[in-house]
Amino acid sequence: MQSLIVVLAAYLIGSLSFAVIVSRAMGMADPRTYGSGNPGATNVLRSGNKKAALLTLLGDAAKGLIAVLFASLLVGLWQIPQPHAVIAAASLAVAVGHMWPVFFRFKGGKGVATAGGILLALDWRCGLITLGVWLILAKGFKISSVAALVAAVIAPILTWYFIPQREYLYAVLVISVLLIARHHENIRKLLQGSESRISGRDESRS
Ligand code: G3P
Repeated sequence: MQSLIVVLAAYLIGSLSFAVIVSRAMGMADPRTYGSGNPGATNVLRSGNKKAALLTLLGDAAKGLIAVLFASLLVGLWQIPQPHAVIAAASLAVAVGHMWPVFFRFKGGKGVATAGGILLALDWRCGLITLGVWLILAKGFKISSVAALVAAVIAPILTWYFIPQREYLYAVLVISVLLIARHHENIRKLLQGSESRISGRDESRS
């Protein structure tokens, strides 16, 4: 029962879609109505509001980090058996919450920033290296989805290398598969050569 509470709490934290929350708070349009339609930092940036995009990025990453740390805290406090399995399940739950949020009609984002926060909480080396690779590729290619897809491939490899408990590898593997699947439209556009580049405005409007 306690394990279930930990996993459910992580899912609820993940369900806080910061793209929508920040946009509403700043009196902006819902990010699900413009650009790629994705409630994520990249798409919020297309509105032209860099501050809102940064707040979305930080909020979505922080919820991944906080949910996993909170799960670890509860697991320790309540002395839940098989702690690694429960924390791994909570890690997956916060990502699932972001992708299918109960508070926003299950229309969530692709999970990139949240996965970054989850990785940082699981092992700071995994998190930092993955975020570093994401940043370098995003700056180099100027295409957010390319950076996200490569990061999704290397994250399980880093988890396997740095974290001895296999439960975390399984969780990160599933998160990566879900994240890649959520990018199916981006992959289609990349193959067609029509994927939009990172910019401070909505290219689909021009
Ligand atoms: O973080 C999501 C990113 O990888 C792609 O976003 O809006 O270009 O589909 P978007």
